[in-house]
Amino acid sequence: MKTIITGSGIGIPRNAVPNAMLTTLMDTSDEWIRTRSGIEQRYYADPGQGSAELGAIAAQNALAAAEREPADIDAVIFATMTPNYFFPGNGPLLQAQIGLREIPTFDIRQQCSGFLYGLDLADSLIQCGKHQRILLVGAEVHTPFMPWERGWGITIGEEHGPISEEDYAFNTSIRDRTVLFGDGAGAVVVEASKNGDRGFLGAKLFTDGSNAEALYVPGVGFRHRPYVTAEQLEKALPIPQMDGRTVFKEALSRMPAAVRAVCAAAGVAVDEIDVLLVHQANLRIVEGVAKQLGMSADRVPHNIERYGNTTAGTLPILYHECVADGRIRPGMLICFTALGSGLHWGAALYRA
Ligand code: UT7
Repeated sequence: MKTIITGSGIGIPRNAVPNAMLTTLMDTSDEWIRTRSGIEQRYYADPGQGSAELGAIAAQNALAAAEREPADIDAVIFATMTPNYFFPGNGPLLQAQIGLREIPTFDIRQQCSGFLYGLDLADSLIQCGKHQRILLVGAEVHTPFMPWERGWGITIGEEHGPISEEDYAFNTSIRDRTVLFGDGAGAVVVEASKNGDRGFLGAKLFTDGSNAEALYVPGVGFRHRPYVTAEQLEKALPIPQMDGRTVFKEALSRMPAAVRAVCAAAGVAVDEIDVLLVHQANLRIVEGVAKQLGMSADRVPHNIERYGNTTAGTLPILYHECVADGRIRPGMLICFTALGSGLHWGAALYRA
């Protein structure tokens, strides 16, 4: 028995925000963002639209693609680092929003590796016979990390600059992170199948907590008493902090190693991979991973130019687009790989 993906869908907010729009908010440039990251635009959710809502859109599209009804689903795995609430997680919100039965919902939070971890968990739950049809969602709304007061109206074209010098200076102080992230969701329906060779061939997942602070949110957490204070807000501690160079270096060494490890365990050569789906944090990382594995650019698709980094949303969005435009076709060997905060990373192999 194999675990197969029977349908995928995405949920993308309506506000496309090109790099040029951000230059009115902070000292940055289209050129810097493009050359350092590959990003040309990203999408921002409407106010009030959370990752649960975007995830629900993606989930409904995935159900339609899989020709399944909400009643057919017997478990949910929801991967996000930007849930609507601290608790409960997005799983129960999704369950209610799209009318699923009173099934178990798991909330997981492995950040950029969330979808990858979710795939392995879904495969395990199916292989052990506990569940037959799982809805796996990766969704993020990063924009609340960006503390722009007047900026919102400007990014979605409803207001025009300039902003105050003080806001401009503050936004510039966090520009290395804010320009990279966008909002978006992807979902897949994962099912047990007894037919043929399609399906998951395995995953290799890893964690290195000694680098937890290389990318993390230092403020607003339950080690603080109370867990949110005016001082934390004043010091901008709820905004993620990132040692970009460390994460960059780790990504470039860990992802190729994970791809090699999962191929070795499955008894296939790296050369046999038809399509390598790499987490989209930086185009230079995607290209570097491809180069290290000796894979030509046409086998390593990217969409970071349109979405920026959508964390747990990235891999399912990329997978969905590649299936939709025929870059992923039945019989192809697909490899997923990601690295992100945790640090968590890994790779999974799938025969489409
Ligand atoms: O998804 C989770 C995993 N995350 C990642 O994988 C991210 C990994 N890291 C990266 O992708 C890169 O490290 C960044 C894109 C974050 C940064 O690129 P970099 O080439 O490492 O740049 P840098 O941090 O070394 O900064 C170079 C310069 C600095 O100026 P000085 O000190 O050389 O004068 C920065 O202040 O670029 C400046 N800078 C900016 N300039 C314009 C930083 N952010 C910006 C900006 N616009 N947005």
